[in-house]
Amino acid sequence: MRIGTPLSPNATRVMLLGSGELGKEVIIALQRLGVEVIAVDRYANAPGHQVAHRAHVIDMTDDAALRRLISEEKPHLIVPEIEALNTATLADIEAQNLAQVIPTVKAVQLTMNREGIRRLAAEELGLPTSPYAFANSLEALRKAIDDGIGYPCFIKPTMSSSGKGQSRITDTSEVAAAWDYAATGGRVNQGVVIVEGQIDFDYEITLLTVRARNADGEIETHFCEPIGHVQQKGDYVESWQPQAMDRVALERAQRIAKAVTDSLGGLGLFGVELFVKGEDVWFSEVSPRPHDTGMVTMASQRFSEFDLHARAILGLPVNVGLQRPAASAVIYGGADGCYLDYSNLEQALAVPESDLRLFGKPESFSRRRMGVALAAGKDVGEARTRARLVASLVKTTAAS
Ligand SMILES: Nc1ncnc2c1ncn2[C@@H]1O[C@H](COP(=O)(O)OP(=O)(O)OP(=O)(O)O)[C@@H](O)[C@H]1O
Ligand SMILES: [Mg+2]
Repeated sequence: MRIGTPLSPNATRVMLLGSGELGKEVIIALQRLGVEVIAVDRYANAPGHQVAHRAHVIDMTDDAALRRLISEEKPHLIVPEIEALNTATLADIEAQNLAQVIPTVKAVQLTMNREGIRRLAAEELGLPTSPYAFANSLEALRKAIDDGIGYPCFIKPTMSSSGKGQSRITDTSEVAAAWDYAATGGRVNQGVVIVEGQIDFDYEITLLTVRARNADGEIETHFCEPIGHVQQKGDYVESWQPQAMDRVALERAQRIAKAVTDSLGGLGLFGVELFVKGEDVWFSEVSPRPHDTGMVTMASQRFSEFDLHARAILGLPVNVGLQRPAASAVIYGGADGCYLDYSNLEQALAVPESDLRLFGKPESFSRRRMGVALAAGKDVGEARTRARLVASLVKTTAAS
């Protein structure tokens, strides 16, 4: 494995497609290893733009724009950070040997749409999931619920993330509103929704799973300690590591994560989302890239999920060990359509073993994730209390 000199003809070039807060940390990890990094997003001054060698603003669903930029920048690796991409373009770029898509084109294509990944997990791999059906009309949705999915159930656009367009309903009177919300809330309106029966879980986890080469060049699968998290409106608000787990459930979780990531293939870190009740485990979904709930690893592990992703995609060995129990708590903008002032930081960072990431997003919305509070502790309970305290002490106000 070799890495060249950045900004020289032998540079190792990596292009991030999507340069939000997760991409920003991947870029920093790559920069530390002397990689030349090109950050791409759909708006100017995105978090990752601010720490890359070069920054570009394009519509990443636009075939021509994507091709033009890739032929200009000639990246060796293309690292998708978001799902709203022209994956057909990426498939063609890879087929022509112009660049390698991380982790694989297959993974990027299947996970951009809930239908692809759900059918792979449940129908091809035979893994346990919630009961589900797909519907392309209100009538079909009603029928799917009446024919067996039942209530409560979740209705989600097949193309969406962070809870957008998603509702949980408990009664037939709510179906029409859920259909309308999903049809308008999806990222690319495909007119297809997934309806899932509710899993009555004890807790949910993200199992960060890394496919990386060892010193002999063989690909091995590594599991980080499980991450527990709390979701509100389909968006994570708090996470911690390690989540205590029943031994049998942990083995099942790792087996499911191995099956899914083996099938998606390639090199890199994956966030496998699982529901757990007693010894039972259900697969929910997977990100073929660092996961938002995994930001906690910046406080808990010797190598964060971003370091691990950077090393794995470069073909380098990884160490997924936990150092100290830790937690993360999201900091929201709290104000709309403006840029922010962040204050009271001296109080926030006086909390023992605390840390902070302010993403530097140019525009705030009240429910936009603008930063994350991190804290370690002697156990998860102490870490969670500290992280919540740090987040509550950071004051955000509209700058004038
Ligand atoms: N079938 C289900 N049974 C129980 N809870 C569910 C189910 N589907 C979704 N949820 C809850 O809603 C959350 C968000 O769902 P999901 O992960 O499918 O949406 P998302 O939009 O992809 O969110 P994100 O992008 O933040 O991961 C889950 O983490 C879980 O808490
Ligand atoms: Mg999810």
